[in-house]
Amino acid sequence: MTEIAVAYDVASLEDALALDARLGPGPELAKVGLELYTAAGPEAVRSLAGRGRRVFLDLKLHDIPNTVRGAARAASRLGAELLSVHATGGREMIAAAVDGVREGGGATRVIAVTILTSLDPADMPPGFAAPFSIAAVAPRLLALAESAGAAGIVCAAGDLPAIRRAHPEPFYAVTPAIRPSGGAAQDQRRVTTVSEAVRLGSSLMVLGRAISHAPDPAAALVAAREECRVAEAVGASTQRGLPDSSRVP
Ligand code: C5P
Repeated sequence: MTEIAVAYDVASLEDALALDARLGPGPELAKVGLELYTAAGPEAVRSLAGRGRRVFLDLKLHDIPNTVRGAARAASRLGAELLSVHATGGREMIAAAVDGVREGGGATRVIAVTILTSLDPADMPPGFAAPFSIAAVAPRLLALAESAGAAGIVCAAGDLPAIRRAHPEPFYAVTPAIRPSGGAAQDQRRVTTVSEAVRLGSSLMVLGRAISHAPDPAAALVAAREECRVAEAVGASTQRGLPDSSRVP
């Protein structure tokens, strides 16, 4: 089954708890990202976990290995289930995050962002890394992340077929930039519908504004889940769940 994470991209702990209450039984995971974490800090994770939510701490860490290791250790102590880092931080940095969560003693899994869903290769500054093809780069970032002990990757659902062609073994894939059928792309460039993400084998889809900005977030979530259910009934999924624990390289 494809799980759903809702991005609690709100300005305060109060707003996060209000959204959480409105979501009722809610999503499988609450995603705490840069906006909420910067505003409310670790209390955001503690409060949501304290209400029984599984928390995806989406800090997209990208720094020197020693710094990332310390941040990952702290995230592990907070009880986050997932912690994101940028795969482009390199193998040593991803491995440092995996070591950090182990040192923290929690059950946090590290997942590595391949190429942001808001980026097209054409968006890269001239002379930086352009031109590159997602089909060529994303599978290499997955292999790098796995070799460093990450539990999976974050990528656009639309990148999954190209990644699988180069890397046929199953892997855990978190896919943001998901819209219900007919939803607006906003600042995202490479969006996918809920049913398409299921069909492409997303393990965990992230829904942000499509839920949090809906007039009735709980109803929008129920509708997304129904779209998932119908898509799952139609086709056998290639999706894979989280491995038992982050693998040691
Ligand atoms: O509102 P929307 O559904 O576009 O929000 C997507 C969420 O997923 C945001 O919280 C964003 O930070 C996050 N995300 C993303 N692209 C990635 C990784 C995370 O949009 N590659």
